[in-house]
Amino acid sequence: MSVQFPPSAAPLAAHPVDVLPAPVRTRLLELARGAEPVSAYVYDGAVAAARARELRAALPEWAAVYYAVKANSYPGIVGALAPHVDGFEVASVHELELALEHVESGEIPAVVAAGPAKSVPVLTALVRARVEAVNAESLLELHRVSRIAVAEGVTARVALRVNPADIPISGSLHMGGAPSQFGVAEPDVPDVLRAARELPGLDIVGFHIHAASNNLDADTHAAYLRWCVEWSVATAAATGVELRHVDIGGGIGVAFEGETPFDMARFGELAALVEPPVGVKVVLEPGRFLVADCGWYAAEVTDVKASYGEWFAVLRGGINHFQLPTSWDIVHNVAVLPVDAWEAGEECPRPVAERTRVTVVGELCTPEDTLLRDVFVERVRAGDLVVFPNAGSYGWEFAMHSFLGHPVAGRHLLA
Ligand SMILES: Cc1ncc(COP(=O)(O)O)c(C=O)c1O
Repeated sequence: MSVQFPPSAAPLAAHPVDVLPAPVRTRLLELARGAEPVSAYVYDGAVAAARARELRAALPEWAAVYYAVKANSYPGIVGALAPHVDGFEVASVHELELALEHVESGEIPAVVAAGPAKSVPVLTALVRARVEAVNAESLLELHRVSRIAVAEGVTARVALRVNPADIPISGSLHMGGAPSQFGVAEPDVPDVLRAARELPGLDIVGFHIHAASNNLDADTHAAYLRWCVEWSVATAAATGVELRHVDIGGGIGVAFEGETPFDMARFGELAALVEPPVGVKVVLEPGRFLVADCGWYAAEVTDVKASYGEWFAVLRGGINHFQLPTSWDIVHNVAVLPVDAWEAGEECPRPVAERTRVTVVGELCTPEDTLLRDVFVERVRAGDLVVFPNAGSYGWEFAMHSFLGHPVAGRHLLA
């Protein structure tokens, strides 16, 4: 039997159309009146800014919120977040350049950088930009940073990225302790630090631990924060690091249908009980939480058809523009936005599926191009728009735009 993903949504019904905010509907209907069939993202920068303010306000003074640009690098969204975050987390030269447009060009730009395969050109750009911390992933990377820094006549600030052996927290966190390409395995940390201390171009400021993903539980996230701080303090003391920087990565989750949202007030209360030493900055670098709900992905239904008794809505778009439901194997529900104008059906009646389950597929020549399976819809017609809310994070950036060479999805920022 062939593998089928994402999972069936049955018996779920599509969202009512009014889950789409009025300005989003208006903009999408404008796009639908254009000459080209729609496959587009609409973003609301104010929604992202509100999320950042919410997180910032919940956290104690010693905590800093850096936006993980990889989650959504659309310049309008990076710009909308900039006044409401303390800095940026970047993973490439492109992301670095975007971030640098928005940070104070002082001595230490509030930018940190992680990524398991930072090439020499990437490391050189980071050292030249004098970023606050290069989160080093290996001993070789520390050597490279040191060599580049010496050649540039500077000292580079680095934090050692650690893959913890075991974090004593259960729950929805996807924690470290598993072999991976990320960071230095915890048992190897003392040896790596010993070697790093001999390198001339480095200032080791602390640690980076990104071991959580899509966590909806405020208690475990606060316990994770506490663990990162306490572990860093103890390890710094044991290894002679002058600790100034603890970066706990991203990982605050976003609730989908039926899930309980992250309790931000509770997280803030518990975080306030953690007491990092004076002079230690604790960085949180969320991506998904800040931008998931500021984006909507919409695609025009090119065709509606029945095949052996099952209905399909075929989109002008698909995993080439929005891959998350498939690659994460999740049910990502949609709303159907009716578009009444219908010009393409002169010879053939407008195809429609009514009060039935429909599978939403894309325009690629592979059955893997399936975005949602078996969702109950009141009505979907060729020419309507299928709209995925919560598409602001890991949407456009995460898709495989070039496969088959159809036009790339447009991106639009609400005024
Ligand atoms: C190093 C690092 N920091 C932060 C993030 C953001 O994580 P999230 O979007 O889960 O908050 C990621 C995501 O992959 C990451 O790799």
